[in-house]
Amino acid sequence: MMLLGPDGAWVVVPSSRVAAGGSGDLAVTRDGAQTIIRGALTASHELTAAGYAGLLACGMIGAFVATDGAAASAPASSSRWEARHILAVLRSRSVTPDRGSHVLDVCAGQGRLSLHLLEAGYLLDAIDLSEEALDRLRHEAAGRGLSTRLSTFVTDAANFARPDHYAFAYCAANSLRCLGSRSRVQRHLRMVHRSLTAGGGYLVHVGLSTRPGSATWYGADGRRVDWTVEEIDTRTAETIERVRVTGADSAAAAHDLRVRVLLHGADLAAMAEAAGFTIGALWEEDFTRVAEYELKTAAGNMWVLLEK
Ligand SMILES: C[S@@+](CC[C@H](N)C(=O)[O-])C[C@H]1O[C@@H](n2cnc3c(N)ncnc32)[C@H](O)[C@@H]1O
Repeated sequence: MMLLGPDGAWVVVPSSRVAAGGSGDLAVTRDGAQTIIRGALTASHELTAAGYAGLLACGMIGAFVATDGAAASAPASSSRWEARHILAVLRSRSVTPDRGSHVLDVCAGQGRLSLHLLEAGYLLDAIDLSEEALDRLRHEAAGRGLSTRLSTFVTDAANFARPDHYAFAYCAANSLRCLGSRSRVQRHLRMVHRSLTAGGGYLVHVGLSTRPGSATWYGADGRRVDWTVEEIDTRTAETIERVRVTGADSAAAAHDLRVRVLLHGADLAAMAEAAGFTIGALWEEDFTRVAEYELKTAAGNMWVLLEK
């Protein structure tokens, strides 16, 4: 579940443990006990300061930041959390900038996470179908003096490979599902496997199941996002999703109908193994470690580390 924090940044909490009550309360379940955080949400589902503090106290947010040695009360920024997680996984594998290791950001977009990796000193290749997004990334990197470590490629992730080039790759924000079909995800995994050096890792953030349904959330600028899964074709494993963004003035800002591929944990595990990977580790969206064997039954958004 994503909630808007009091500082305007998104906060990601595990939907399996945090539930919203009717009157702005949040119910948090941990170790079999339930805690109610009163007045945690505003009417538009944004976190109040009390809600934020309550989630911190329950260890639902900031847990990763805390175990990483930094202050648990650091402002919650979903991008920074994700980047810290990715950097911690890199370090745990001894992939450090001083070794000249190359890292691949798959479906990098405007480089929400690439910029953190560049700032940490890594040599980074960012790939995306969108030339405009990569232009923005290059522009931002240039402004921060990071251009010399960045290469960008406008390309389809299902067809991109640089054999034996990367010590590590990652794909955030559930972007694998953008590839459109299971056969293209399979092909992509083969390409990444071929692109990694021996012992390399591929960290993937992926939503492992989707049911027809809908959700609404609000952005920091007052924009409202209505998201609906209209249809799932069980034969092709495609979902038809509709996204409607309405501005603060109620004018439609964007309207998008898209097809994404549905992935279950068991499919992902089978595809990864067919591509030559082993499953290295598994985390929930809040970076809580989960046993690897649970991938086959897991649901919701997870981080999966695939190892060559
Ligand atoms: C949800 S965004 C994620 C952006 C970024 N990784 C982040 O975490 O903010 C998905 C990105 O995938 C890109 N994309 C979609 N299909 C792709 C494909 N077949 N090959 C490469 N990029 C693709 C889109 O252009 C978009 O920038």
